[in-house]
Amino acid sequence: MKKALTCTTVGLSLLARRGNAAGEMQVTIDLTKTAEPISRYIYGQFIEHLGRCIYGGMWAEMLEDRKFYYPVTGEAPAWDMYKPGTGSWKGDGHPYELLMRSPWMVIGDKTTISMVTDDAYVGDHTPRISLAGNDKPRGLFQERLGLVEGKEYTGRIVLAGSSQAAPVEVSLVWGGGANDRDTVIIDEIQANYTKTSISFTANQSTDNGRLEIVSRGKGHLEVGTVSLMPADNLFGWRSDTVALVKELDAPVYRWPGGNFVSGYDWKDGLGDPDRRPPRKNPAWKGIEHNDVGLHEFLALCREINTEAFIAVNTGLGGAEAAAEEIEYVNGAPETRMGKLRAKNGRSEPWGVKWWAIGNEMYGKWQLGHIPLEDYVKKHNKVVDAMRKVDPSFKPIAVGAKGRWSEHMLTTCSDHMDLISEHIYWQDRDNVVSHVNQAVSKIREIAAAHRGYRQKIKSLTGKDIKIALDEWNYWYGPNEYGELGTRYFLQDGLGIAVGLHEFFRNSDMYFMANYAQTVNVIGAIKTTKTQAEFETTGLVLKLYRERFGEIPVQVSGKNSPLDISAALSSDHKVLTVGIVNPTGRDQALPLKLNGGTITGAGQKWTLTGANRWSHNAPGKIRQVDIVTADVPEATGSINVVPLSVTLYEYMLR
Ligand code: AHR
Repeated sequence: MKKALTCTTVGLSLLARRGNAAGEMQVTIDLTKTAEPISRYIYGQFIEHLGRCIYGGMWAEMLEDRKFYYPVTGEAPAWDMYKPGTGSWKGDGHPYELLMRSPWMVIGDKTTISMVTDDAYVGDHTPRISLAGNDKPRGLFQERLGLVEGKEYTGRIVLAGSSQAAPVEVSLVWGGGANDRDTVIIDEIQANYTKTSISFTANQSTDNGRLEIVSRGKGHLEVGTVSLMPADNLFGWRSDTVALVKELDAPVYRWPGGNFVSGYDWKDGLGDPDRRPPRKNPAWKGIEHNDVGLHEFLALCREINTEAFIAVNTGLGGAEAAAEEIEYVNGAPETRMGKLRAKNGRSEPWGVKWWAIGNEMYGKWQLGHIPLEDYVKKHNKVVDAMRKVDPSFKPIAVGAKGRWSEHMLTTCSDHMDLISEHIYWQDRDNVVSHVNQAVSKIREIAAAHRGYRQKIKSLTGKDIKIALDEWNYWYGPNEYGELGTRYFLQDGLGIAVGLHEFFRNSDMYFMANYAQTVNVIGAIKTTKTQAEFETTGLVLKLYRERFGEIPVQVSGKNSPLDISAALSSDHKVLTVGIVNPTGRDQALPLKLNGGTITGAGQKWTLTGANRWSHNAPGKIRQVDIVTADVPEATGSINVVPLSVTLYEYMLR
């Protein structure tokens, strides 16, 4: 306990007379008993190149496989469908939407398409269309584009071919009628690949818009690549998703993985995006388009006013690549990698402080997994190489409660500022135990690390706190692409008590990154044209916006409620978070020591009809935050069923 308030204990009774149903609860909030301030990094987030988190969620590109990773064969595209989930929620029939082969279809006979490998524009091959020269339309098209009436779309296309292939018509199509399209005509085709800007306005909303690339000319036409985005994109990021990301206001973002990072070559994400190679995602099912690399991620961080937390590859990658990466990001413009960065359009170093040294290297599923005894040496080598480049950077080591964390802390404590842990929970039969698993797991990890501090000599005098850089519920079917599980009211309540547990262990938790931000086990879900907060996202946003910084002691019997309270940094405002995981109203007798509430306050309540209530993009919210004034603090606090309520009072 660090600070003590000077004000006298007044014993203000918020509810002394009514009692609660069981007649058992009696809670005291003591403003004189404060704990270590809550680190703002507790509200961190994590985005990975996986499923529809970045591509198809945050990044504005509307076309699938715009660089032709899959050969165009003329066969209809194939989509994997979701598998019913485990646990009580089995899903309500959304397609899984994982592309299995090329989404591009052929206009004309499919034999007119071949994939050329000599002089491919990007990746292994480029589609070539053989033209008939008899005014017959030939070309490519892609369906399933989400269009909004009146909205503008912009992009570019890279073409090469016979001069007689001109003109080429590029059309955005929203219906079956002759006028249901907007067309750009490219009058000249050159033997060398040439980039042309394209822009369209959709006159109708549809989920099945189409982009067509057609020639009626002679000879052949190569389509190097093509890109299409809503014109309101923010340097490539989806403006509707980013608007919600800004509301989340997370202070730090971990990127690019996750399991992905252990097979990722960060240099693939540099230079002209149209020339960056598409690859199979090394850890997951989809394609890595390499449209989002360091420059794009760091531009997003600036736009949403957050700090970057970059993971380096210690799986298939090693010390040299990690040192080059940090030099690229933080090195002076005169350094070898700094020069390359400047050549790619950014002269000033970004000055990124937080770096994850690998991801889950303890797991056999991790690319490049090696035994712990070897990994500790690799960890130290990577950190030494990175420190030579930037002595001020803050390495976050891979941990896993038990043997792995213990050995990492024993042998690498001079090579880390924080140690990472990950936890995910499944669903449980009833909401009370569903929610309480968050409490017990977060508590267990903190307790284990307190134990290491006692046991491990090299930790004496050090304060290596925990970065819980992946935490969330994870169950149910994939309704928003790969790992795109949905969240319910019960999960929102669990995330709130999870936050409470971080606050109660503010001496041990320095950072936490909700995993993940968009679609993939995400706090925000998207369709092609809309974005919406899950229950969990609303809770994270509410606490980030409103909850205090200095935890104060909450004592007494509060079960089945979970209560956490904190003062603002100037000690003028008290916030009290209360989670009721039961299906009943709960009357809460609450006593305040060490301060006086000035009068009426405010409250924010998040609730819904039942444990399965949820939100979905484009639908009316089943779960939302409702704000109300609360009268002067007398009488009872009635806590409504299945709710999170945050109270805010001014103190004097
Ligand atoms: O967040 C999804 C995956 O879960 C991450 O890639 C991995 O680190 C964890 O196992």
